[in-house]
Amino acid sequence: MNQSFSTFSSLSLFCLLFLVSFSSCQLDYKFYDNTCPNLLKIVRNGVWSAIANETRMAASILRLHFHDCFPNGCEGSVLLDDTSTFTGEKTATPNKDSVRGFEVIDAIKENVEKACPSTVSCADILTLAARESVYLTGGPYWPVPLGRRDGLTANKTAANELPSPFEPLKNITAKFISKGLDLKDVVVLSGAHTIGFAQCSTFKQRLFDFDGAGNPDPTLDASLLTNLRTVCPNQNDSDTNLASLDATTTNKFDNNYFKNLVNNSGLLQSDQALMGDNTTALFVMNYSKFPFLFSRDFGISMVKMGNIGVFTGQDGEIRKNCRIVN
Ligand code: HEM
Ligand SMILES: *[C@@H]1O[C@H](CO)[C@@H](O)[C@H](O)[C@H]1NC(C)=O
Ligand SMILES: *[C@@H]1O[C@H](CO)[C@@H](O)[C@H](O)[C@H]1NC(C)=O
Ligand SMILES: *[C@@H]1O[C@H](CO)[C@@H](O)[C@H](O)[C@H]1NC(C)=O
Ligand SMILES: *[C@@H]1O[C@H](CO)[C@@H](O)[C@H](O)[C@H]1NC(C)=O
Ligand SMILES: *[C@@H]1O[C@H](CO)[C@@H](O)[C@H](O)[C@H]1NC(C)=O
Ligand SMILES: *[C@@H]1O[C@H](CO)[C@@H](O)[C@H](O)[C@H]1NC(C)=O
Ligand SMILES: *[C@@H]1O[C@H](CO)[C@@H](O)[C@H](O)[C@H]1NC(C)=O
Repeated sequence: MNQSFSTFSSLSLFCLLFLVSFSSCQLDYKFYDNTCPNLLKIVRNGVWSAIANETRMAASILRLHFHDCFPNGCEGSVLLDDTSTFTGEKTATPNKDSVRGFEVIDAIKENVEKACPSTVSCADILTLAARESVYLTGGPYWPVPLGRRDGLTANKTAANELPSPFEPLKNITAKFISKGLDLKDVVVLSGAHTIGFAQCSTFKQRLFDFDGAGNPDPTLDASLLTNLRTVCPNQNDSDTNLASLDATTTNKFDNNYFKNLVNNSGLLQSDQALMGDNTTALFVMNYSKFPFLFSRDFGISMVKMGNIGVFTGQDGEIRKNCRIVN
């Protein structure tokens, strides 16, 4: 019997034994069908009201899911608050004064707890909310495997290692590969930047003195440059001003992000860098031409990302409040 087969059979034996006493130990599309049949309605409703109040919230929730999954897997760690004895991930550099949407997840969790107490994990709620955010802004719909359990801790160091807009594509790709994702996932998931906003501090270095000789980034379209210099004047107090990641259709989940890259109109240096590599540029060209291809691949890559390091079975817990470990 080879190694992988014996690993598989002991795993399935464990799952079989487990199924007798509990429900399942693997992610499963129908995981809550019996235990929380209204889950999807509650999540959709919560995301819908949040977007109705503020369109940007769709983007913020989608990003929150990404920031949950990369450090330690999709186990709700990003949702945990700091306490006097516990340091969460909210103050890590990529998150501080940047990630948002916690109140939306809290409100959904409260309604889910009313309908099905201590049943649905915060990690699953966030994963479903991210899918709804894409779907409700005009993007694709994909089935979400469920059954994640919530982690018991957070890791600020790991959160500090989230991809940065200032690092080269090589480095970003290495980070994706270390999570079991690949180069295509880097391109496809970057397409999330078809909605939402970025603060000037995340791209301002491209606008004024990119090369140390006073010139802007040569791979930034001239008319976009002019607009961005208005939004982000060359002074520190413009750092928190916001610019659209996709200036053409900011609130619509479509493939314009890729069309923009082909036109030198990516906002972040890490976005435009996808055109600076022959392999990724071919993917970009493809997605810019074929919106359906992007829709399909985005769902596939989101499922991959949503499965990073999940806890199942008896690992972790079902939090009662997404901000604190039970
Ligand atoms: C590939 C590496 C990535 C880098 C370097 C990156 C970087 C950034 C940065 C710097 C911002 C602006 C944050 C701010 O100004 O406060 C941002 C926003 C955003 N990111 Fe990414 N990101 C990456 C991948 C992803 C992925 C994989 C997703 C989701 C699947 C995603 C979804 C978003 C969304 C939706 C926003 C807008 C959020 C809002 O408006 O609140 N990003 N990203
Ligand atoms: C609605 O959105 C605004 C920001 O645009 C926010 O300040 C406010 O708290 C939100 N209200 C609700 C009920 O979510
Ligand atoms: C936290 O994350 C860092 C960086 O990924 C890792 O080296 C460290 O072992 C993690 N700490 C714990 C307690 O898991
Ligand atoms: C990219 O990764 C290399 C090797 O891991 C590292 O030395 C370098 O500092 C990283 N660059 C940035 C800008 O993070
Ligand atoms: C602007 O910010 C930079 C970097 O944070 C700092 O070095 C500089 O002193 C600041 N300038 C002013 C005028 O505050
Ligand atoms: C990109 O450039 C093409 C050709 O110059 C133009 O037709 C198209 O409208 C541009 N798209 C965007 C999103 O700016
Ligand atoms: C990338 O494409 C350019 C232009 O088509 C070509 O000159 C270059 O050799 C290619 N680089 C690689 C590594 O394939
Ligand atoms: C481009 O899309 C076609 C299908 O439309 C696919 O066969 C091809 O492999 C894709 N190429 C790349 C580089 O994504």
